[in-house]
Amino acid sequence: MTILVTGATGNVGRQVVRRLVEAGEDVRALTRSPETAGLPAGARVVAGDLARPETLPGALAGVEKMFLFPVLEAAEKVVELAVAAGVRRIVLLSSATVTAGYDTEYHLPVERAVEASGVEWTHVRPGEFAVNSLHMWGPSIRATRSVVDPYPDRGSTPIHEWDIADVAAAALVEARHVNTAYTLAGPQTLTQREQVAAIAAAIGEDIRIEELGVAEARAFYHRQGGWAAANADFLLGYEDYSGVESAPAEPADLAEAEPEQAPGTVTADAVTGRPARPYTEWARDHAADFR
Ligand SMILES: NC(=O)c1ccc[n+]([C@@H]2O[C@H](COP(=O)([O-])OP(=O)(O)OC[C@H]3O[C@@H](n4cnc5c(N)ncnc54)[C@H](OP(=O)(O)O)[C@@H]3O)[C@@H](O)[C@H]2O)c1
Repeated sequence: MTILVTGATGNVGRQVVRRLVEAGEDVRALTRSPETAGLPAGARVVAGDLARPETLPGALAGVEKMFLFPVLEAAEKVVELAVAAGVRRIVLLSSATVTAGYDTEYHLPVERAVEASGVEWTHVRPGEFAVNSLHMWGPSIRATRSVVDPYPDRGSTPIHEWDIADVAAAALVEARHVNTAYTLAGPQTLTQREQVAAIAAAIGEDIRIEELGVAEARAFYHRQGGWAAANADFLLGYEDYSGVESAPAEPADLAEAEPEQAPGTVTADAVTGRPARPYTEWARDHAADFR
């Protein structure tokens, strides 16, 4: 039985590939750039682009289960091709924003396409990824051992990407997760200050927090580029989830120490039975990335 993992070079997908290979599954890993994918030798790497369904039939041939990375543009067509190729279970990387009710234009349509296709489905809906802090803070921690943040006392409950992958892998190989949506968070609520302290402890060096105003912080992350620039406006309250511009949120809205969680949110142990990984462990797992 062949399992196709899409988004296979991503934070989550790469870990899903690893878990399935270790479990002895026959794994095919999809990427747009096989030559640079660096995936485990036990997986068969195949080329394909989820935004260009015409590139996928070869990758889908003979596949029974699929881990689907959400690419909205062609999601319906991709699911249609998968079903035609014989895929009978799809585990989707979705988002807790669907459960929270404000994600109607990105992950929700992909969930609906999967459900409407008649396959067995599991929606994995994580909240904030812990690895976001690597994308936001990594460059300045590596360069100057400092972090820019306008709301250091804001709390959040980041989830380790390995826990998301554990849940996805379980849903691919075990029958009991069929037709279920899991909304996931990490097991610890920590302020930004506490998260920075966890990274400092992991690398064994002090990290300074530069508490800039929200507009200055936004400009800083725009200058930084990459993931930070692409996500700063949403994270700092300058746009809503659909990308529509909004007035920057009042500090009180973004400075809460206790984050709101979507109803029914669980930690990974509720699905996998193994303890969910705390942020402190995530920081240790990524210490080398911050040095
Ligand atoms: N970050 C968060 O806090 C958060 C929270 C909730 C949900 N999510 C969801 O999780 C996703 C991010 O997951 P991640 O961090 O594992 O992803 P990632 O590290 O950004 O990697 C995604 C992988 O998907 C592949 N990909 C992208 N577009 C593709 C396309 N058109 N066709 C084929 N492959 C494509 C890329 O691989 P190649 O370049 O090798 O093709 C890339 O390595 C978000 O997009 C969102 O949907 C994120």
